[in-house]
Amino acid sequence: MKPYIYITRKLPDALVKPLQEKYDVKMWKHDDIPVPRDILIEEVKKADALLSVLADSIDEAVLTAGKNLKVVANLAVGYNNIDLKTASLKGIAICNTPDVLTDTTADLTFGLLMTTARRIVEAAEYLKEGKWQSWNPFLLAGTDVHHKTLGIVGMGRIGETVAKRATGFDMDILYYNRTRKPDAEKKLGVIYTSFDELVKKADFIVCLTPLTAETKNMFTREVFQKMKSSAIFINVARGAVVDEQALHDALVAGEIAGAGLDVFQVEPITVDHPLLKLPNVVALPHIGSSSTETRTSMIELCIENISSILEGKEPKTLVNKDWRPLVKG
Ligand code: NAP
Ligand code: GLV
Repeated sequence: MKPYIYITRKLPDALVKPLQEKYDVKMWKHDDIPVPRDILIEEVKKADALLSVLADSIDEAVLTAGKNLKVVANLAVGYNNIDLKTASLKGIAICNTPDVLTDTTADLTFGLLMTTARRIVEAAEYLKEGKWQSWNPFLLAGTDVHHKTLGIVGMGRIGETVAKRATGFDMDILYYNRTRKPDAEKKLGVIYTSFDELVKKADFIVCLTPLTAETKNMFTREVFQKMKSSAIFINVARGAVVDEQALHDALVAGEIAGAGLDVFQVEPITVDHPLLKLPNVVALPHIGSSSTETRTSMIELCIENISSILEGKEPKTLVNKDWRPLVKG
């Protein structure tokens, strides 16, 4: 019997074909509706491999149901939706999609920063709504990005790539990271600071950490109050690194000037979300890595990782480094 692979979102047939040639593959029928939990549990009971997305909670119950499960390939670099400890205990390899999405996500991050600073969405809407009467000296005047101070929290692959873009804008770049990055300091001229100093000095604060127990609610009201009142906060990491109510209150109180958000505590958000009511917020539906080229590469990498595990080879991008295969059906 061929190994059974379950894919939790509808993906383009042409990309899934290499898997279908070797394995028995089933896909959830929608690309925009998550697979219901009961169906996921039923499918995982039969599966040798799962291709999941970040909206799927791959928790202890799912991993325990997967008696034959050997690999979960998550279509994201972030893996906060997966219980790694249980996966390792059960001999399930967890793979993600680093590197292939780094440039694309850095582009979106810098684009969101520019858009928020220069009020690009507001200006485009203003025009479409027929409000443009004449040239006006301070019409929709934003704030400059060039020659300002950028503070990057989480100086990993994407953080460094954002820093690279910022050098082209003659920005001073501060960073805060779990570990210091001497190579990045040399190469990009970035300066290591404490978190406290960064939030006080930066004009733009960009968060690019993973979501972990340590980074959860890292941005509290107290942190926003330490920022400059002209500061713009950009979050492309995960919504839960921010206390969203605190961010809302800081924006309303004028403690910071604006926010560009690609991620939210609970996704998707709905039109009545309080942050969407604020004119100085640019909100995007979690599209950091969403270019056709990059999403294609991410899917290909997931497929490659699944094939490697099922063929007894080393996967390219293993997350749980303590993983050891167990003998399964
Ligand atoms: P990465 O290379 O692992 O970078 C993450 C960085 O955060 C690392 O340098 C890490 O430090 C640092 N970090 C971890 N915990 C920290 C803490 N408590 N305090 C300060 N720094 C901490 O990952 P990446 O590829 O750049 O991706 C980063 C995150 O971006 C992902 O985990 C994901 O959540 C998010 N993301 C979002 C989108 C989107 O569509 N919005 C797209 C891609 C990624 P060390 O150097 O010590 O490990
Ligand atoms: C997207 O959010 C990712 O983690 O790849």
